[in-house]
Amino acid sequence: MTIYAICGASGQLGHLVLDALLRKVPAANVVALARDPAKLADYAAKGVEVRAADYDAPETLAPALAGVDRLLLISGSAIGQRPRQHQAVIDAAKQAGVGYMAYTSILHADRSPIKLGEEHRQTEAALAASGLSYDVLRNGWYNENYTFSLPAQIEAGVITGAQGDGRINSASRKDLAEGAAAVLLDGKGGDIYELAGDKGWTLAEFAKELSRQSGKPVTYVNMGEEEYAQSLIAAGFPEYAARVIANSAYSTSLGALEETGGTLGKLIGRPTTPIAETIAEALR
Ligand SMILES: NC(=O)c1ccc[n+]([C@@H]2O[C@H](COP(=O)([O-])OP(=O)(O)OC[C@H]3O[C@@H](n4cnc5c(N)ncnc54)[C@H](OP(=O)(O)O)[C@@H]3O)[C@@H](O)[C@H]2O)c1
Repeated sequence: MTIYAICGASGQLGHLVLDALLRKVPAANVVALARDPAKLADYAAKGVEVRAADYDAPETLAPALAGVDRLLLISGSAIGQRPRQHQAVIDAAKQAGVGYMAYTSILHADRSPIKLGEEHRQTEAALAASGLSYDVLRNGWYNENYTFSLPAQIEAGVITGAQGDGRINSASRKDLAEGAAAVLLDGKGGDIYELAGDKGWTLAEFAKELSRQSGKPVTYVNMGEEEYAQSLIAAGFPEYAARVIANSAYSTSLGALEETGGTLGKLIGRPTTPIAETIAEALR
């Protein structure tokens, strides 16, 4: 019996990967790892074994991975800490005799101008040095990254950013979760998957679609990276977060989120979720 485990199972992507996995294999084959197991009580009730594992407490990791055959490491959320945290998981996987790993990286990690890419490059290098069998899931941005403040954007009639005319091949979190589950189940090792939405869009097109769906005029206003960062700080974002967001936005104008290979759709066996559908969902 193959045992599949997910690190980061308590997060938004993790929940959706668990759901996708449980549609394919019995709960008895699934181990969910979280620093706070209480967050996964509903999955424990379904028969999933929930184990405590904290990336910042390396001693918890190898015991939590005992008996695991195939592991999905969902990248952590503590920016600046992740290479060390992910290295701890990789070391523990080796110690526990895990046979295969998949890791959620960033789209085009090898050449992404997005500064966040550096932490993913370091983790990909750690995997390569580990001797483990592994695949890399280079995830593009979630549709949902763009839809959490629609009411405010409709009210203002303006969307600001630094994305320029950069095309964004985003996909829904659920699409990417299904892709991750598919690779966790069947990945052979040695592959890099560039995972993104089928159809790219620009922020000007996004504003047009939001206008259409809301019935209110919304336009896109482009800024430089620094100007956009300052506007986010003025709106109350901590400076570090503002700079990360502005850098990702400006990098988008350079093509960082454009990917037309269609790999995700092939992996999940259906078209990826159009941004218009995620906008409609968010407006409901
Ligand atoms: N592609 C994109 O658009 C995009 C956007 C945002 C983030 N990301 C990346 O993709 C990952 C998954 O996305 P998401 O939406 O699921 O993010 P999320 O909801 O913030 O989930 C992050 C997960 O990491 C776990 N985690 C953080 N620190 C940990 C630690 N020290 N030990 C154990 N677990 C820890 C969290 O556990 P808790 O539940 O205990 O907090 C949570 O399960 C993110 O962590 C980030 O690396 C991608």
